[in-house]
Amino acid sequence: MAIDFNRVPSPCYVLDERLLEKNLGLIHSVKQKSGAEIILAFKGFAMWGVFPIIKKYIHSTTASSLNEARLAFEEFGNPAHTYAPVYTDTDFPEIINCSSHITFNSISQFEHFLPVVKKSGKKLSLGLRVNPEYSEVETELYNPCAPGSRLGVIASQLPSELPGEIEGLHFHTLCESKSYDLAKTLKAFENKFGKYFKQIKWVNMGGGHLMTHKDYDVEHLIALLKNFRQRTGLEVILEPGSAFAWETGYLVSTVIDVVENKGIKTAMLNLSFAAHMPDCLEMPYKPRIVGSYFEPVKDKPTYRMGGNSCLSGDYVGSWSFDRELKPGDCIVFEDMIHYTMVKTTFFNGVNHPSIGTWNDKNGFRLLREFGYEDFKNKLS
Ligand SMILES: Cc1ncc(COP(=O)(O)O)c(C=O)c1O
Repeated sequence: MAIDFNRVPSPCYVLDERLLEKNLGLIHSVKQKSGAEIILAFKGFAMWGVFPIIKKYIHSTTASSLNEARLAFEEFGNPAHTYAPVYTDTDFPEIINCSSHITFNSISQFEHFLPVVKKSGKKLSLGLRVNPEYSEVETELYNPCAPGSRLGVIASQLPSELPGEIEGLHFHTLCESKSYDLAKTLKAFENKFGKYFKQIKWVNMGGGHLMTHKDYDVEHLIALLKNFRQRTGLEVILEPGSAFAWETGYLVSTVIDVVENKGIKTAMLNLSFAAHMPDCLEMPYKPRIVGSYFEPVKDKPTYRMGGNSCLSGDYVGSWSFDRELKPGDCIVFEDMIHYTMVKTTFFNGVNHPSIGTWNDKNGFRLLREFGYEDFKNKLS
């Protein structure tokens, strides 16, 4: 059953549970066939209302802060694999409680917190994030190996032997990448850090593996991971975020007004790119809109989409339509589930989109609405 957007409040993020299950099925089969552990990175997708569905397919998640680690422990029901660029003395004791694995970004953080781990008496698997100084990612904002990067220890800074308590190495260098990018990265990683493999139990290959993209060579990924496991005898962990929620849903909005300046028409929406789709401005990235032409078409009505914040740059465009847009028209942005809800703000106090799901049995289900109290509670 196609989603009936007329039954969805506006604005609203709508996750299509059928599409999520399709992605989860694929991820589960990669896990089964490759023998790698695949865990969900909350930084990309942490919609806890659908954890019961996700838990049918995977058992663990990865956290990048105490709050995410608590969400893993309390809502997902399993301790997290936690990695944060820095841990604080205040947060760390509770991070210990909520985690099974803790990865450090530097030797100094490892040395600072090792006594706390020992004192806790808890059995934890400790890891170190390394920086292979090799990444296929071209956008600097998303390249953890850019010169001067603060993320991960570079090979020249490591001693000839790892501290005995380190059981794993972690690298994260990919972003919406292919298995062939992983293959090249693995070469760089093994060249620089292979000498430590005999000392460790696991390698976490980070996120950025977009295995649910239609052009991703899943069989190549499976072969690559199997080969790595067999050659090294190490456990392999992947922690994608985007791949789980890739193309699983929409952001539904409404045209409130149409303005024109020097021949450029802007459809003013009841949501904001800056507050609700920040990647569109940061990356920058132009989303598809249901029923529109992605590129402007000559002689067809063409519009920018304008956000409802006062930020001058809160717009993206342009798209063409078969007819003129008018107030009340529904505008549905595609692929708006990953790196959206986790990044939204109450900038300008603009209303936050609701959150809901769609499935064949129940149609639309509203999970959450936001109001003045949510905006106010974030301030003081
Ligand atoms: C350390 C780490 N792991 C996993 C991820 C998830 O990556 P993605 O959502 O691109 O798969 C990220 C994303 O920034 C990350 O920084």
